[in-house]
Amino acid sequence: MFNLKVLITFICLISIVSSVSSQYISSRNILSQNASSQDISPQDISFIYKEPIDGLKLYTTLLTHDYLMIWMAFEDEDPECMLPYFHLRIINKITGQTNYIDLNYTLPAEAVCPINIDFLPVANNYILLYYAKTTNGIKGKHGMIINYSGEIMSEIYLGNADGYVALSNEGFINIEKPDEKGISAWHWYSSPNIETGEVVEHNSGEFHVPNLPSYTLVDSLNFNLLDGGFGFLYILKYDETKGSPVTKDPNLQYWRIYVSFLKVKTDLPTKPSLLYETTQKLNNITLKSCTLTYYHAEGYICLGFLSTGALIRLEIIPTLTNIPNFDLRALYYGGFIVIYQNATAIDFYLLDDNGNDMQSRGSFGPEFFHYNTFRLINTIFGVKEQAKNKLEFLFKPLPKLKQVSEFNPAIESVKPSINEVIDPLIKEITIKYTIPVKLFTGNVSIFQLNDDKYKPGLLRQTFSGDSKLCNIGSDNRTVHIPIFESTFNQQNSTYYVLVENNFVISQERDEPLIGIRKNIWTLSTKPLKTAQHSDSVTGLLRLNEEGSSKFFQMNHSIFFKNMIQEFAKVIPVTEQRLSASGKWQYDPTSPKKVLLSFNIIEAKDHTIELNSQIIFDDISTLIKKKGFTALSFNEYTSLIDESAPFTMTRDYINEFYPLIIIFVVGLAVIIVLYVLARRKNPNARNSVIIETCFIMQDIAMDLAFILLKVKNTPHLFIPTIIFFILPIVINFLLAINIFVSEMAMNPSFNKWVKESPTLSSMCTLFSAIDIQILNTLSSDLFGLKIFSAPLTQRSKKIMLWGVFISIFVEDIPQIIIQGLYYNSVITYDLIPSLVLASGGLVIANKLVLRSYHTLLRWNHRRDKIREYNRNRRLSAASIRSIRSNVEN
Ligand SMILES: *[C@@H]1O[C@H](CO)[C@@H](O)[C@H](O)[C@H]1NC(C)=O
Ligand SMILES: *[C@@H]1O[C@H](CO)[C@@H](O)[C@H](O)[C@H]1NC(C)=O
Ligand SMILES: *[C@@H]1O[C@H](CO)[C@@H](O)[C@H](O)[C@H]1NC(C)=O
Ligand SMILES: *[C@@H]1O[C@H](CO)[C@@H](O)[C@H](O)[C@H]1NC(C)=O
Ligand SMILES: *[C@@H]1O[C@H](CO)[C@@H](O)[C@H](O)[C@H]1NC(C)=O
Ligand SMILES: *[C@@H]1O[C@H](CO)[C@@H](O)[C@H](O)[C@H]1NC(C)=O
Ligand SMILES: *[C@@H]1O[C@H](CO)[C@@H](O)[C@H](O)[C@H]1NC(C)=O
Ligand SMILES: *[C@@H]1O[C@H](CO)[C@@H](O)[C@H](O)[C@H]1NC(C)=O
Ligand SMILES: *[C@@H]1O[C@H](CO)[C@@H](O)[C@H](O)[C@H]1NC(C)=O
Repeated sequence: MFNLKVLITFICLISIVSSVSSQYISSRNILSQNASSQDISPQDISFIYKEPIDGLKLYTTLLTHDYLMIWMAFEDEDPECMLPYFHLRIINKITGQTNYIDLNYTLPAEAVCPINIDFLPVANNYILLYYAKTTNGIKGKHGMIINYSGEIMSEIYLGNADGYVALSNEGFINIEKPDEKGISAWHWYSSPNIETGEVVEHNSGEFHVPNLPSYTLVDSLNFNLLDGGFGFLYILKYDETKGSPVTKDPNLQYWRIYVSFLKVKTDLPTKPSLLYETTQKLNNITLKSCTLTYYHAEGYICLGFLSTGALIRLEIIPTLTNIPNFDLRALYYGGFIVIYQNATAIDFYLLDDNGNDMQSRGSFGPEFFHYNTFRLINTIFGVKEQAKNKLEFLFKPLPKLKQVSEFNPAIESVKPSINEVIDPLIKEITIKYTIPVKLFTGNVSIFQLNDDKYKPGLLRQTFSGDSKLCNIGSDNRTVHIPIFESTFNQQNSTYYVLVENNFVISQERDEPLIGIRKNIWTLSTKPLKTAQHSDSVTGLLRLNEEGSSKFFQMNHSIFFKNMIQEFAKVIPVTEQRLSASGKWQYDPTSPKKVLLSFNIIEAKDHTIELNSQIIFDDISTLIKKKGFTALSFNEYTSLIDESAPFTMTRDYINEFYPLIIIFVVGLAVIIVLYVLARRKNPNARNSVIIETCFIMQDIAMDLAFILLKVKNTPHLFIPTIIFFILPIVINFLLAINIFVSEMAMNPSFNKWVKESPTLSSMCTLFSAIDIQILNTLSSDLFGLKIFSAPLTQRSKKIMLWGVFISIFVEDIPQIIIQGLYYNSVITYDLIPSLVLASGGLVIANKLVLRSYHTLLRWNHRRDKIREYNRNRRLSAASIRSIRSNVEN
């Protein structure tokens, strides 16, 4: 299928080329007429690069998606040579920031004279520099991996000195030149390791030229495949010295072109298949290049040239003979650009997809000596002759033949669109292709952009097209990609979606479609709105069997520590938010596996941190989807058993045991006091001990709430403080009022105060907490003098009012605040619950006691009335009896 496809495009291209030739000539004439007029249109952009090192001259340029790379070199007297130092300038396309690589390494003489060095930008922001060097009599190709600061990370022997080094999205390959037998060895290397820059050989093998006895190999060429593999072309020519003369058989194929494919992670290339053959006795066939054709949304086009065909026409048109070489490049937005360079000018013009002249041309004048094209932004640039340390670039945008989405011609649109600010809880994203597609093996992944632009992004989720997670809409063109809840969990962050080339294939031809490179489809999240608070939570996860046995082989605390480190990276949170008590247990339902407990510590600052509940949910999702998240790419987190949920547990004993102890001790003290008090003086109002305890506990809880919890809900801070202070002020005023009036009007109270001035004033202060405390003073507790303050009925009435007022200015508002607090936090722990409970108890206590007292009093009064009435009735009866007595 695939080969057939290439065959079709190739033949189609060959026909393009023959049509090019005539177009070519006419355009050439026009170009030569205007040769001197160098047209700089208004949208041309000039850019000046200043080289800091004197004497360095531009050697060549190279463009990647993100960078313009300028290779500078010291010239040797011999123009074929350069001095043995490597200088590369890497300019970021967007920021303009420049990295200067001045390699502290002296390249061997044979690499620089004649120049036999080259470089490739490889993955993870490394450069592969390779050069010829003879060791032990063997002329080999040596490579070194350097980073963008010019640090040499690693070195590697690549193989025979002749041949190509080519980049793939799966590392890079060195393909040696075919030997006499037509065998070319290849070695496929990994991308450099992110941290160390080490490369390793993945696999190796050989390409074999098709075994045709009477043909000889003229040329070979390799090209990249969309799925990361390589194609290898052979041009074979009939050799009359080996076979019978061509004249004998007019149907003999004089030229043949074969292609062989090497797929990713295979050792054997496909058997060479015939791509093109002709009986024409052409002098030579030149293959310009093979390029992915973006504008057809699929497949490859090999820009091949039957040079003799072109030359025949050149003979007719003499001007073309002045141009020994021309360059032809496929353009991103359709069509081709044809570029000529001679000693005095660089001219170019455009062809459409069918090779028709687009009547669109341009030129760089004699002051320009170098050109290159920026494929993705459809731009050609020229570089002016260097003036001292100054290099001037002139960028000319080229017309777009087709309107193509920002991504590539295979993709019509995406949702959410580029740079959109998204809802972090978005459920899916979609890609709409221009043609019907089928899901395939390539991955779609989402990364969070790293602050350090040299570091790779943080993987959020990844799965392949055929993983059953994605699905295609009814139009067969829209792919729906689910998003995990944990994916966009960081606020104010940027993410990008990376779609591999093989993610979908065309329905019609099973051809892989081009994906979306990193940093193109970026999405971002809003800055954090202050999150709801949630207290620390504890979660329990299960290790799989392998993990459980590793856990037992290892020092547990180290295991926990490593696990926390990896979790912190994956979630991502700071390590301080996670802790482990070191607790573990066997899973009762699956005895070979262990359960580990982790604490997620509450956030200190909700404007910048995720709350613990969100972190818990994120871990939960990450575990559930382990196979598709970064958890499975880490040594320890990959040992988690994703079939068991991450469950929240409450470690009550650990979390709350200080409170429980205080509670138990407090209760014991109250009971002891009560019993003692009853023993001492059974007639006293001993229940004030319990009342006072209630009050004390209530104030302690209120204080604990203010000190520890209310900061979690800033909007409740002011009401809480108001309804904490206001009752104190009211109670205090009432207490002072009672105290002063008692002092003035009650001589026995006056006497009591004089007897114990410190204690009595302290009691007044305490009664600011709750006026009921004054009750204690008159309770006769333990029969002590201090508790025998003689209070007047008026004071008791004021105290009763105080109690009622405090229900409305203290207890009820506090219960409402607790309700609001409950609503605005996610996890609700012991302190607020206790505040709520104690508030409720205090109200109940007040209401019950007061109603009891009121009831008592009411009863008392009724009894009095009854008594009075009885007395009245009695008197009436006596009157009657007196009367009857009188009547009788
Ligand atoms: C050449 O010049 C003529 C007139 O000066 C102009 O019409 C034509 O477009 C120019 N061609 C190019 C390729 O600039
Ligand atoms: C280079 O091309 C220009 C026009 O494109 C022409 O005028 C000039 O004569 C050519 N120079 C050489 C040396 O061929
Ligand atoms: C170059 O490297 C050598 C050792 O490899 C070191 O002695 C020398 O100082 C380096 N030069 C510079 C300019 O860094
Ligand atoms: C290159 O490597 C060196 C040493 O490992 C390191 O200090 C430097 O930051 C790296 N530069 C870049 C751009 O990564
Ligand atoms: C044919 O073209 C190839 C590649 O362009 C070149 O290496 C070879 O020398 C040419 N052969 C002849 C006879 O021109
Ligand atoms: C997709 O990702 C998985 C996991 O990272 C990897 O094993 C697999 O090779 C990737 N598939 C392709 C086609 O790159
Ligand atoms: C989608 O593809 C299926 C087969 O793969 C086909 O039966 C169906 O008609 C297609 N639908 C559209 C709208 O093209
Ligand atoms: C969001 O991030 C940007 C850049 O990372 C930073 O300048 C800005 O202060 C952040 N905003 C908030 C509210 O955190
Ligand atoms: C485990 O490691 C910790 C520190 O990393 C150490 O203090 C402890 O003694 C080790 N325990 C065992 C049993 O080796």
